[in-house]
Amino acid sequence: MPKLIVVNREGEEKIVEGGNGLSVMELIRDNGFDELLALCGGCCSCATCHVYVDPALGDALPAMSEDENDLLDSSEHRNETSRLSCQLVMSDALDGLRVTIAPED
Ligand code: FES
Repeated sequence: MPKLIVVNREGEEKIVEGGNGLSVMELIRDNGFDELLALCGGCCSCATCHVYVDPALGDALPAMSEDENDLLDSSEHRNETSRLSCQLVMSDALDGLRVTIAPED
């Protein structure tokens, strides 16, 4: 069962277990983090599921699509570790992934 470590905007950390096949966005949203709005429901059109991904597992992440890249460009808080969490599907390969919820735009 993969583990996902989520850090909220206050810097509090929580470990979420399981969720193989669910997106990181769904896992965050379904585990009591109400600050991740995910307004479009995961269809890569809102950028309100923006997270920073710990580079330790960067190689295991799926490549970024052009749409994701364009949406992230609309955020003032983008950095080199930014991803849209709805585009990251949890799997054993991502066990131990640590994501930090980005500030709201
Ligand atoms: S939930 Fe809208 S882009 Fe991820």
